Amino acid sequence: MSEQPVKSPPTRKPRAGDQFELDIVAFDGRGRGTAQRDGYHFTVRRAAPGATVRAMVLRRRGANIEAVALEKLAAGPKAVEPVCAHFGACGGCSLQDLAYSEQLAGLRALVERSFTSRLSTPFELHDVIPAPATTRYRNKMEFTFSARRWIAPGEPENAPNGFALGMHAAGVHGKVVDIYGCSIQARVADEILATVRELSVARALPPWDPKLHTGLLRYLVIRHAGSSSEVLVNLVTSDEAPDVIDPFVREIVARHPTITTFLQNVNSRPADTAIGDPGRERVLFGGGVIRERILGLEFELSAGSFFQTNSVQAERLFEIVREECALTGGETVYDLYCGTGTIALILSAAAREVIGFEIVSSSVADARANALRNGIGNVRFVEGDALDGLATEGLPAPDVVVVDPPRAGLHKKVLPRLAALGARRIVYVSCHHPAAAEDARVLESLGWRVERVRPIDMFPHTPHVECVITLVPQSAS
Ligand SMILES: C[S@@+](CC[C@H](N)C(=O)[O-])C[C@H]1O[C@@H](n2cnc3c(N)ncnc32)[C@H](O)[C@@H]1O
Repeated sequence: MSEQPVKSPPTRKPRAGDQFELDIVAFDGRGRGTAQRDGYHFTVRRAAPGATVRAMVLRRRGANIEAVALEKLAAGPKAVEPVCAHFGACGGCSLQDLAYSEQLAGLRALVERSFTSRLSTPFELHDVIPAPATTRYRNKMEFTFSARRWIAPGEPENAPNGFALGMHAAGVHGKVVDIYGCSIQARVADEILATVRELSVARALPPWDPKLHTGLLRYLVIRHAGSSSEVLVNLVTSDEAPDVIDPFVREIVARHPTITTFLQNVNSRPADTAIGDPGRERVLFGGGVIRERILGLEFELSAGSFFQTNSVQAERLFEIVREECALTGGETVYDLYCGTGTIALILSAAAREVIGFEIVSSSVADARANALRNGIGNVRFVEGDALDGLATEGLPAPDVVVVDPPRAGLHKKVLPRLAALGARRIVYVSCHHPAAAEDARVLESLGWRVERVRPIDMFPHTPHVECVITLVPQSAS
C-alpha cells in the first residue's frame, strides 16, 4: 500500500490499497460521498460533499471504484459538527456532518435522477419538505445484541468485545457498535437502552452470536408515542427462558415507570430479524399496545405492526397523500399495503368508502380496532397478499388507489392489475425512490403518466427520503 496520495494519474488501473486525493461533490443513495477523477467514478465511505479527502480504494469494477476516506484534508463549506458521539462508527445516520439544507438538496438530486433516468415524459418535481425536528424524531428504534462488539480505532486490540447492544457498524459486516445514546430517538428510550445494557451485563445474559447462532438476547425494540407519552419495549430473544427473562424484565420496568407495556418475542431462527416466530409473543407488562395520535385520529400500535417512524412528519406526509388523492366525497379508494390503516382512516372522511389491503394479520387486527376506536364505519380491511386482494370478487372498482409498499416496491404481477383497475389516479407512497421510479416506468408502459413527485424528509441525516408520486392515465392528459 502506498503511504501518500497519488498526485498524478496512475499509469495502471487503480487497485485495492491505492490512495487518492478526492474532491467529494455529492452523496449517493447509501450516504457515501461521490467524486470523479481520472475517468473513474468514486463512491467514498465517510466523506461528505464539499470535503477533500485522502481515500483508499477498496475495490474497482470497471470505471467504478469503492473507497473509504482515511483522512479529511479539508472540510467543505457545508460541513457541520455531527450531533452524535457514535457518528462515523454507527451505520445509522451517515449524513450528520453535512448541513441540513445540503442534505435536502442532495436528496432532491437523487430523487430527480431516479425518475428522469427511467421516465420518458416530463413530470413536476417539488423540493424536499424538511423535517421540523432533525434530532429525537424517531418513534421506534431497533437495537441489536451481539457477542461481537465492534472495536473502535484507538481501543486496545484485546479490549473486551463479547457484549454489544447497539447498531451495526458502518461498512463492517457482523459487528455491532455499542450505543450509549441515540440522538434521533426519544430521551426516555436512551435511558431504557442504558438500563437494559447494564442489567444484561450484570445478570450475565448471553447476547446472540450471529456466526455461531448461540446466545439468548437478540434485539431490543423501543417504541415511544409522542402524543400519549406511552412506551412499548419489545425484547426479542432466541428462546422464552422465563426463569431469567421475567425477573430481568421486572427490574427494567421497576426502574422505568415511563414503560407502559413490555413484550417478549421469540425468534429461534438464524435469520437476522427482530420479528418473532408466529405465536411466540408474551406480554410481560401492560396491555401489549401503545396509542399514537395522527391528524386527530388515535392509532393503537402493537410490537409487530408497521407504523411511520417519524410521527410528526407523518402528519405532513398524510396531508400530502390526502391532497394528491383530491377526493370529493363520493369515491371508492383502495389503500394497498395499508399497515395499521393510517392512510385508509385519514382518507375515509373525504371518501365514500376506503378498502385497505394488508398481509400482516396483527396489522389488520390493529387497523380494524383503529377504525372502531375512531368511530369510522366506511372502511374495511382485506387480509392477505395485495396481489390476491386485487382479485377479490365483489369489491367495488376504485376511483383512486393509494399504494404504500415495502422498500422493494410493487410485485411485478401487481403492476398490470393495478394499471387495469380503471382508477382515475394512483397515489404511490414510497420510502425507496429507485424502486418507485422503476414501478413508475412500468406503469408508464401500461398507459399511465407521472404527474408529480413530492419528496418529504422523514429520516433526517440519512440518505433515505419518502416520496408521494401521483400518476394519472395517459388518456387523461
Ligand atoms: C411501508 S408499510 C405501509 C403501511 C401504511 N401505509 C402506513 O403508512 O402506516 C408497507 C406495508 O405493506 C405490508 N405488506 C408487505 N407485503 C405485502 C403484500 N404482499 N401484500 C399486502 N401487504 C403487504 C407490510 O406488512 C406493511 O404493513
